[in-house]
Amino acid sequence: MTAPAGPAAEDITLPGVLSASPRQAEGPYYPVAKPADRDNNLLVVDGGEPTTIGTPLEISGLLVYDDGTPVAGATMEIWQVDGQGIYDHPNAPDTDDRDLGFQFYGESVTNGDGFWTFITLDPVLYESRPRHIHTKITIDGVEVLTTQIYFDGDPLLADDGLAAATGDELTLLTTKAVPGTLSNGLEGLVALHLIVLPL
Ligand SMILES: [Fe+2]
Repeated sequence: MTAPAGPAAEDITLPGVLSASPRQAEGPYYPVAKPADRDNNLLVVDGGEPTTIGTPLEISGLLVYDDGTPVAGATMEIWQVDGQGIYDHPNAPDTDDRDLGFQFYGESVTNGDGFWTFITLDPVLYESRPRHIHTKITIDGVEVLTTQIYFDGDPLLADDGLAAATGDELTLLTTKAVPGTLSNGLEGLVALHLIVLPL
């Protein structure tokens, strides 16, 4: 059996100096009811083949403390728009037209290396914000970080009020997605992202 394609912990090199990932607003669309299927593959809802509209994205990374120590056993939640730019939330515009083949919310528990991974969709633009994935980190039931993940080169980053960060802060908030094969065999985008917590 061949090893699945897709990123792994050893693909990520930690920079020499780590500063904590900036906090970002939770935003108005954190799920009011989390789905029964809340695993880390947002392209499959309750089993079956992916039927989602959009570009598959595998985003993976490490969760570490700012001394480089892995954060094991943390729960990382993500929530985001579907491939049409629609959230699953009663107050979200056009939510009745959302892609029912998409899971919208998922959880990944970090392993001993602090590694986490999601298979999801490239979050398209909505309401003129740069593409982003919302995330929340919980350790032993305590929320330790709420932030957002943006994408390198997004032309809307510079003018975005929420993503108004520069230098190291912006580096910690953005990821680079490149064309590639996901670990489920789909063609799409793959990205590696580092999240740093203060000790
Ligand atoms: Fe958002």
